[in-house]
Amino acid sequence: MSPLHVTRTLPEDATEAALRADVEHGLTDDPKWLPPKWFYDARGSELFDRITELPEYYPTRAEREILADRSGEIAAASGARTLVELGSGSSEKTRYLLDALTSLAAYVPVDVSESALTQAGRALVAERPDLEVHALIADFTAPLDLPATPGPRLVAFLGGTIGNLLPAERAAFLAAVRALLEPGDGLLLGTDLVKDEQVLVRAYDDAAGVTAAFDKNVLNVVNRELGADFDPDAFEHVAVWDARREWIEMRLRSRTAQTVKVSALNLAVEFAPGEDLRTEVSAKFRREGVSRELGDAGLELTHWWTDARERFALSLSVAR
Ligand code: AVJ
Repeated sequence: MSPLHVTRTLPEDATEAALRADVEHGLTDDPKWLPPKWFYDARGSELFDRITELPEYYPTRAEREILADRSGEIAAASGARTLVELGSGSSEKTRYLLDALTSLAAYVPVDVSESALTQAGRALVAERPDLEVHALIADFTAPLDLPATPGPRLVAFLGGTIGNLLPAERAAFLAAVRALLEPGDGLLLGTDLVKDEQVLVRAYDDAAGVTAAFDKNVLNVVNRELGADFDPDAFEHVAVWDARREWIEMRLRSRTAQTVKVSALNLAVEFAPGEDLRTEVSAKFRREGVSRELGDAGLELTHWWTDARERFALSLSVAR
């Protein structure tokens, strides 16, 4: 059996330093914000898994439908011998791709969660002794050093996570992905699509309150990691559709006038009654916009697959 290689490019203390910088920056800005990447501690990841099973949250099922139906076409079009997956998590949906990519020599899952990587990696190595699995513990928004594995390369970025980046961050991210590719290599990108406002808002504000708990979990993370005294019950979860920018914003709205202390930062943060803290942007896309943004990064859109109800898209683009 080929071994599971694990490489850490993320220093153990980088996370803490980045969290401090983000919290200091976001909570002293006007309007206040926090980046969505801090949702995902163990409890946040568990809540996100529950979100993917909610009746209102369609993106995961829609993307799985596309992968189940189209993996053969995707594999044929890419001809990849190395699959790099950014933000691989449990690699659950990736199974369809791995099964369809018959000439695959190497799989490189990239994630900040070491436990998710090693769990998924071990299972895969046992099943596919022919496959070299090289897991990278890394933040995919920072520059990546990929192992030398055979081409062509296919980079997959699924789940619609690109929507959590702001437009300027998206452009920088796509340019960095392009820099990992040789001409002819590909990017498989999952994007949630613009649709009816009610459907979108419900997907981010479900009846059972799981998304509200997920949203407020970021306050628990800041409390635990930076000694803050946020009371999650003193905030209301709201999901707002921004029609001009075509994105959903999740916010935590202060129910009262309150002061929150963040002891590790020596910071006191004042909230006015009804003041919002933005915790996530989740952009929704159209084919023209995806094609333009890819083109600007040196990638040419060649394939566009959607689920039957056209809620979500997977695009394949090729490095020029
Ligand atoms: C991580 C991009 C898949 O933006 O839809 C789910 C995160 N936030 N519910 C998204 C999320 C609220 C999610 N993705």
